[in-house]
Amino acid sequence: MTAPLMSAVAVSRWYRRGSETVHAVDRVTLHLEPGVVYLLQGPSGSGKTTLLNVLAGWERPGEGHVEWRGERVDPRSLTWSDLAVVPQRVGLLPEMTAGENAALAPRIGGDRRFEATASLIALGLADLEDSFPDELSVGQQQRVAIARALGGGPAALLADEPTSSQDEDHARIVLGVLRSAAASGSMCLIAGHDPIAEEYADAVIIMRDGSLVVS
Ligand SMILES: Nc1ncnc2c1ncn2[C@@H]1O[C@H](COP(=O)(O)OP(=O)(O)OP(=O)(O)O)[C@@H](O)[C@H]1O
Ligand SMILES: [Mg+2]
Repeated sequence: MTAPLMSAVAVSRWYRRGSETVHAVDRVTLHLEPGVVYLLQGPSGSGKTTLLNVLAGWERPGEGHVEWRGERVDPRSLTWSDLAVVPQRVGLLPEMTAGENAALAPRIGGDRRFEATASLIALGLADLEDSFPDELSVGQQQRVAIARALGGGPAALLADEPTSSQDEDHARIVLGVLRSAAASGSMCLIAGHDPIAEEYADAVIIMRDGSLVVS
């Protein structure tokens, strides 16, 4: 049996809030396979972003660990063509154009061939490649961050609320692009509340109070 592409193994992450301990993620084990679109749903505060941040290596779990192709890994050691992230706050560099922002992360990851234009066109941004983030709407900025994540054809893509600033037509464009990334073999884990996303997902994972709900 081949190992999953990526796993969270008994991952917990707590926060102190005054004298209280918040179990943002509580002993979550999750196996993620290539070519599958997973939708991570759950009420606000249920731990979706925290779990994505642990998988991305942006937060360390208090207990448990992350595995990549069956081996324990510090996700920060993975390249952008292994693992790409669309954060909830998209973080484009203001002095770079949309095209440069979309191309930047894959280039830092060493992929010199990456051409941003195709992803920008697919996401309805063809005319805005030379615009700066300040000149773009929030939804357009979010789509540039998605183009950036798709650069280099990541094996795994973690997207935190990638349609939160999109109208329905653009949400469908975004989800369709993620769906085609999965058709090319990428694993896509999408956190969010968007009911439209269910139509594009192969599997729905529900979190409540830091734990996965077993259906
Ligand atoms: N830095 C922090 N310090 C203290 N508590 C935190 C911190 N970050 C998150 N939390 C708490 O952890 C819990 C999970 O938060 P998280 O952001 O993962 O939820 P979420 O499911 O992504 O919510 P949303 O749908 O609103 O984005 C919440 O109770 C939140 O208040
Ligand atoms: Mg969140």
